[in-house]
Amino acid sequence: MNSLSDAMSVFQKSTTVMRYSFLLLGLLFVGVFGVFKFLSASILPNLLTNLGLGLLAMVIADLGVKLVVNVVPRVNLPHLEKRAVFITGCSSGFGLQLAKRLDALGVTVYAGLRNSQCAGALELQATCSKNLHIVIIDVTKDEDVKNAVKYVNKTIGDKVFWSLVNNAGISIFGLTEWVDVTEYRRLYETNVLGCVRVTQAFLPLLRENQGRIVVTGSVSGRFAYPFLIPYSMTKFALTSYVDGLRREMRQWGVGVYWVQPHLYRTNLSELEVVVRQSNQVWGAATEEVKSSYGEDFFKNYLERGTGYIGENASNNIDEPVSDLIDAAVGATPQYCYTPGMKARFEMFLARYLPIYLIELMFLLFQYCYTPGMKARFEMFLARYLPIYLTDIYTEMNVNLKFPAAVLERKRLQRDSKKLH
Ligand SMILES: NC(=O)c1ccc[n+]([C@@H]2O[C@H](COP(=O)([O-])OP(=O)(O)OC[C@H]3O[C@@H](n4cnc5c(N)ncnc54)[C@H](OP(=O)(O)O)[C@@H]3O)[C@@H](O)[C@H]2O)c1
Repeated sequence: MNSLSDAMSVFQKSTTVMRYSFLLLGLLFVGVFGVFKFLSASILPNLLTNLGLGLLAMVIADLGVKLVVNVVPRVNLPHLEKRAVFITGCSSGFGLQLAKRLDALGVTVYAGLRNSQCAGALELQATCSKNLHIVIIDVTKDEDVKNAVKYVNKTIGDKVFWSLVNNAGISIFGLTEWVDVTEYRRLYETNVLGCVRVTQAFLPLLRENQGRIVVTGSVSGRFAYPFLIPYSMTKFALTSYVDGLRREMRQWGVGVYWVQPHLYRTNLSELEVVVRQSNQVWGAATEEVKSSYGEDFFKNYLERGTGYIGENASNNIDEPVSDLIDAAVGATPQYCYTPGMKARFEMFLARYLPIYLIELMFLLFQYCYTPGMKARFEMFLARYLPIYLTDIYTEMNVNLKFPAAVLERKRLQRDSKKLH
């Protein structure tokens, strides 16, 4: 491989390779189903039983495939030195470590941050290669985002713009009714609209190269933890954005991946920050709210909240950063990463346990009704089927132009190969 065009053809093949094996899924399914049939044949030999066992076998086979792909060592794409990645929120935490590690791998890194004199910027300048560019970008500002794209176009040279990592994010701690609506708006502006704004601005470059979009989501985008709901709402919004965008972008050959970390020790989860934010939110709450909950409730909340974060926040930032690297430049990326065994187990419970049991765990009681049989069936599939199968189901049902889109994409790939 000695020319950019050769490398481009590798890129095109690489984007579509997924770290998931349908062959293995099929084999495991047949195996598990066979065992179930053998065990149950004499006791429950009817159609409903077969359907139930089939579903159970599918879930177990899916878990088997995930287990296998998780233990297979990860491999990066070739020609990292020819690829460029833009990351937002590089002044600290995941973004800072990601920028440093990608730079060490030879990738051209555009490290987006808000203040060129902040500690993170100085650390990047002091420790990284000349291939790392610091780009001033506030994701809530249109002008900054436009300038960032201009800067990339001007400086990228013969490198291929390969990935955009939407990592910038803010949080807030406090009960929903304590938090003022302006705070919700601020969170949405950064976490949700910031991601959409930056993605839309970089999409022309990504489409051209059939590159990747990576989003730092959160387990809070799958499961709403009390005291963190305004933040959770933004991460749920991102989850739906990524879920749909992946399906829309498939026709362009642009991959969309998301990483949903649990709790890690970064600026966002610093105890000092949690206490300061909680005090601010409580201080600004209405008198009615304050007298209803009372000071004791607030003190108890603060003690429990900081105790939980102190005990559970992991120092192993390498975990989510490794997943972000795999999503951005790995040869076989996954649609969705949940870094860490504990978080994976919690997400497994959140996905497969009946909501009644989950609610019991939180000592809250609430019901979620989905009217209509068809809707209930679809929600059942969406909850229990592997994401790969729900994608096929959606594309067959919703995106009627899917076959045409695939043909068009193949034509584009052929044309782009001819061009180079
Ligand atoms: N830490 C966790 O436990 C955890 C768990 C799940 C998900 N996450 C997600 O991971 C991502 C990174 O967070 P982190 O844990 O690494 O926290 P962090 O150290 O606080 O990093 C957040 C980064 O986002 C930047 N940022 C905030 N508002 C911005 C804006 N308007 N425009 C551009 N950049 C902005 C911050 O820049 P400034 O320094 O300028 O503020 C900082 O660089 C976030 O999306 C967060 O929601 C974190």
